[in-house]
Amino acid sequence: MTSPGTSTFEGGDVLSLENVCAAYGPYRALFDVSFRVPAGGIVALVGSNGAGKSTVARTVTGLVTATSGRIVFSGHDVTTMPAFRIARLGMAHVVEGRGVFSSLTVEENLTLAFRQRAGRKLLAGNLERAYTAFPILGERRRQMAGNLSGGQQRLLSLAKVLVVPPHVLVADELSLGLAPVVVDTVYEGLREINRNGTALIVVEQQVSRVLQLAGWAVVLDRGAVAYEGEPAGAGEAVEAIMSQREEAASSHI
Ligand SMILES: Nc1ncnc2c1ncn2[C@@H]1O[C@H](COP(=O)(O)OP(=O)(O)O)[C@@H](O)[C@H]1O
Ligand SMILES: [Mg+2]
Repeated sequence: MTSPGTSTFEGGDVLSLENVCAAYGPYRALFDVSFRVPAGGIVALVGSNGAGKSTVARTVTGLVTATSGRIVFSGHDVTTMPAFRIARLGMAHVVEGRGVFSSLTVEENLTLAFRQRAGRKLLAGNLERAYTAFPILGERRRQMAGNLSGGQQRLLSLAKVLVVPPHVLVADELSLGLAPVVVDTVYEGLREINRNGTALIVVEQQVSRVLQLAGWAVVLDRGAVAYEGEPAGAGEAVEAIMSQREEAASSHI
């Protein structure tokens, strides 16, 4: 199935990373990271705190520039492209935290996002689509975003990208600090976005839930890919890393 949000490039991959290295000044954070995101697919990017997940997210969205390697998005080499140009090609990034303007209302948040991406003419229809997908946002459209619960703020940040579907959405630790039942709602929002044709990179530290959602998994450890493959094998890879860590820690006592 194809939809306006789906594009097929390089054998069906909408995004590919080849031997990507990245650094913060002298600190090297990513080492030869390679993986692919199929058009319309869902890739889980998991690993412990500090493994480099957010750095991968920032590198593909252009907030951090790769020091070597290649990133291809929708048929364009975006390795050194600035973030705003990558965004215009159809890449959306929900950063860690909530990603909403807390002193604006729900509707003002949505209006800003939709005007920016789709223009004024389509605004009314786009707002309607957002409220249909997330009725709770419709009920609270006049409320300050800062007064929403954590889960509702995450839904608002998803609604901002849902309505004008990007080719790829990078969602960084959406479930952080949320109650499990709220995480379910947020994940349902991700599924809805994916059904509209958007490929997802879902970054999580907690593996169980994201592995149910994803068709492919990448496990990062100390800035490098430790596992890439079926989600079913990722849990084991994560456990192996954890037990290596524990052994290393106990040998230092
Ligand atoms: N802005 C930054 N400046 C310097 N080092 C950073 C910065 N952001 C992250 N790092 C370091 O890069 C490594 C990877 O971090 P990050 O990508 O945030 O990991 P994760 O998202 O998996 O927790 C960590 O060692 C972290 O301390
Ligand atoms: Mg992170």
